[in-house]
Amino acid sequence: MIFSGPDDGPLALDRLPDWGARFGDAAARLELEIGCGHGGFALAFGRRHPERALVGIEQRKAFARLVAEKAARQRLGNVLVLQGDGRLLAPRLFAAGSLAAIHVHFPDPWWKRRHVRRRLVDDRMSSLLLGLLAPGGLLDFRTDVERYALDAVARLEEVGFRNEAGPGGFSEAPPDELPSTREKRYLEIGQRVWRLRLRRPPG
Ligand SMILES: C[S@@+](CC[C@H](N)C(=O)[O-])C[C@H]1O[C@@H](n2cnc3c(N)ncnc32)[C@H](O)[C@@H]1O
Repeated sequence: MIFSGPDDGPLALDRLPDWGARFGDAAARLELEIGCGHGGFALAFGRRHPERALVGIEQRKAFARLVAEKAARQRLGNVLVLQGDGRLLAPRLFAAGSLAAIHVHFPDPWWKRRHVRRRLVDDRMSSLLLGLLAPGGLLDFRTDVERYALDAVARLEEVGFRNEAGPGGFSEAPPDELPSTREKRYLEIGQRVWRLRLRRPPG
């Protein structure tokens, strides 16, 4: 099931959605969050950036519904939440080169060796994320799992992302960064976060 808010019907996926019709001027600065969970980031983003738009994709139906309902209650017309698999939905929702930023915060680590291929950031997804971003667009990736961070930075640089922190490096949190639901908990307990801020090269 795919839904965007309590009153919205399913989104047709036979062609790319008309984001301008949905978000108005905010569609000029369109961003994607994959795996928005309980929505701490998406909802704060919607409140802080009325001039931008965010599409959140969340696989778990209960979480997607919760965040969509909160966005509707808070009248955040610039936030749309869809339930589904971000790996499948993203290329059907966005034209190549159309996103200003993509946010991936604390993706499931899939610890067991035989499950590692289920990770969100694999080679195919790395190329897809690069292709969806506009030149200069930002991939904002955060994890608390060092092994995932090291694997992701190698893959993402390999497909052509430029690392703001230099090759193989991790970034500090920018002062105006919005924490996700999980990250708020980590900030309280002092859990280290590995943060990648990677850009699609301009031109
Ligand atoms: C560990 S939680 C982190 C949630 C949130 N980003 C945060 O930082 O609080 C990972 C989330 O990603 C969702 N998820 C996992 N794989 C996904 C996929 N392929 N597409 C969309 N969501 C996915 C899970 O259902 C879960 O809500």
